[in-house]
Amino acid sequence: MIQFDKVTKYYQGRAAVSDVSLHIEKGELTVLIGTSGSGKSTTLKMINRLVEHDEGRITFGGEEIRRIDARALRRRMGYAIQSIGLFPHWTVEKNIATVPALLGWSREKISARVSELLILLGLDDSFRQRRPHQLSGGQQQRIGVARALAADPEVLLMDEPFGALDPVTRATLQQEVARIHQLSGRTIVLVTHDIDEALFLADKLVLMDEGRIVQQGTPWQLLTQPASDFVRDFFGRAELGVRLLSLGQVGDLARQGEWTDGEPIAASMNLREALSQFISRQQESLPVVDNQQQPLGVLWFNDLLRGKEPQ
Ligand SMILES: Nc1ncnc2c1ncn2[C@@H]1O[C@H](COP(=O)(O)OP(=O)(O)OP(=O)(O)O)[C@@H](O)[C@H]1O
Ligand SMILES: [Mg+2]
Repeated sequence: MIQFDKVTKYYQGRAAVSDVSLHIEKGELTVLIGTSGSGKSTTLKMINRLVEHDEGRITFGGEEIRRIDARALRRRMGYAIQSIGLFPHWTVEKNIATVPALLGWSREKISARVSELLILLGLDDSFRQRRPHQLSGGQQQRIGVARALAADPEVLLMDEPFGALDPVTRATLQQEVARIHQLSGRTIVLVTHDIDEALFLADKLVLMDEGRIVQQGTPWQLLTQPASDFVRDFFGRAELGVRLLSLGQVGDLARQGEWTDGEPIAASMNLREALSQFISRQQESLPVVDNQQQPLGVLWFNDLLRGKEPQ
């Protein structure tokens, strides 16, 4: 859907992004991660032409992006970022409705969509008429995400969208983005500093350093087949084991047809949380139930140690 071919961007004669080739598949959630100043935001902004590339080629749906009108392109791509605030004099409703209004949606349709998004992001209707200065930082950030989602864009670009949030709200919104992604199959490109957030969300992970892509692939590939010491160090050698666990689900490893006593855990729980359960309960095996709370099987502590690539 989006293709970068040897793309380079210079600022004052210095390359901020060098020779980047990247293929973003339709429906995939791609996470750009890397050290500060490695060129992640620049790469993201080249997708919707907030920044114009100097060399190479970027295409969207097969079309060279320079040939698409920049404003038309931006309307097809939701964009949420940490630092750029909302329009300060506009109400929450008007902020969220920015793109739908540009697209000429009816008042009823806009109003219904705003209600839907407020609920989705865990805010009630009383927020509708507030202005940005009457919101906490985290609430503003959620409105920013709602605004990006408002017109059901083909692509969602997110630059550290949860940066200002506390860990609990952050985890909720991460789950929300994962859910939106699964339900709508929308193409998402997300920039983050947070390794665990990246591993949780990414179908495809792109690690950058000094303007270049160091390695790209699935989270499992980057963790188990790091291309260099830089990659290994970036993901933290010491935490590698638990990080690998966070990629898999209990259902993948549960032995079906067995059963045991105790409070069951969900098949959808990730293996890292399951490890905590084993430790806190001091048990060697735990019963597992499916989404309908029906018995599915048993997870054995020893099976956790084997490790298995998530499907
Ligand atoms: N408008 C600009 N003018 C000049 N240099 C810039 C500009 N924007 C970015 N840069 C430089 O380009 C490089 C890449 O910046 P970029 O914002 O893409 O990094 P980043 O990976 O998003 O970093 P961070 O994680 O800190 O947000 C940096 O060295 C930065 O100083
Ligand atoms: Mg950045």
